Amino acid sequence: MARPKIALIGAGQIGGTLAHLAALKELGDVVLFDIAEGIPEGKALDIAESGPSAKFDATMSGTQDYADIAGADVCIVTAGVARKPGMSRDDLLGINLKVMKSVGEGIAAHAPDAFVICITNPLDAMVWALREFSGLPHEKVCGMAGVLDSARFRHFLASEFNVSMKDVTAFVLGGHGDTMVPLVRYSTVAGIPLPDLVKMGWTTQEKLDAIVQRTRDGGAEIVGLLKTGSAFYAPATSAIEMAESYLKDQKRVLPCAAYVDGAYGLNGFYVGVPTVIGAGGIERVVEISMNKDEQAMFDNSVNAVKGLVEACKGIDDSLT
Ligand code: APR
Repeated sequence: MARPKIALIGAGQIGGTLAHLAALKELGDVVLFDIAEGIPEGKALDIAESGPSAKFDATMSGTQDYADIAGADVCIVTAGVARKPGMSRDDLLGINLKVMKSVGEGIAAHAPDAFVICITNPLDAMVWALREFSGLPHEKVCGMAGVLDSARFRHFLASEFNVSMKDVTAFVLGGHGDTMVPLVRYSTVAGIPLPDLVKMGWTTQEKLDAIVQRTRDGGAEIVGLLKTGSAFYAPATSAIEMAESYLKDQKRVLPCAAYVDGAYGLNGFYVGVPTVIGAGGIERVVEISMNKDEQAMFDNSVNAVKGLVEACKGIDDSLT
């Protein structure tokens, strides 16, 4: 059987890391697409040359021609610009919306059967726009945010408790921005919910609140340190986890920006929710019950995303 084909649209910091991880995990053959000449070709060759030592079998290529992504099983989109210090994700909207248009058209023309994972920010609005521009089925287009946000939350919690990250689960809902909703009640250490751990004296409410805030600001913290761009190792690793679940029909329960139609009181809207990812793409949206405070935070986050979607419609008439 032929290896799966993975098209990476955008060969920058995240795109290059995605290619490297896909190769190391032998997920399939990789095509890196970018408008910048030489960058995708150079990264593809560099990673291919690591193959004999890393011992993977996968072909790597770089291109500026959408025809080369033909028949891709998975497309991961990072094309666009990243944040610099002082910028919010929302500041990227105007530039990256135009990029989503060309990417959506390229995928529709050459890889209409692919499972598409968008990473470009502002994530929730960009994944919506990418779906609109591409016309692909809603269950085949999603955005990577929740896996990353919950990974950050899990990392901070594991450090606080001095336990393995493997035994920490975390739950993050809502948009990928300042309004994201880390759900403490549904986050656990080996099945013990965080509020119980506070009662058990493992941590204090104040420390937990600080960790929740640090999770919300997780992207900005990295931008502040790097100064030249935004995070790329953890975002790439998160998207690879999603791609692997699709390619291997693992049916992992992963939070991502998915099309929600009916659940959570939403009628056809992209926002971060728990999902099941398998061979059918987003096979299920998992609807959990929220208390009043959690619902208020979620509504606030949904409203922030709605504002960005409206801003997109204001910029590009074809989206209205
Ligand atoms: N088509 C294809 N590639 C494009 C296009 C386009 N229209 N416009 C820009 N690119 C490419 C750039 O040439 C660059 O190589 O997208 C790449 C982006 O790479 P980086 O600037 O290194 O950004 P990265 O850190 O990878 O982040 C990409 O993901 O997390 C988000 O906020 C982040 O929106 C940003 C995106």
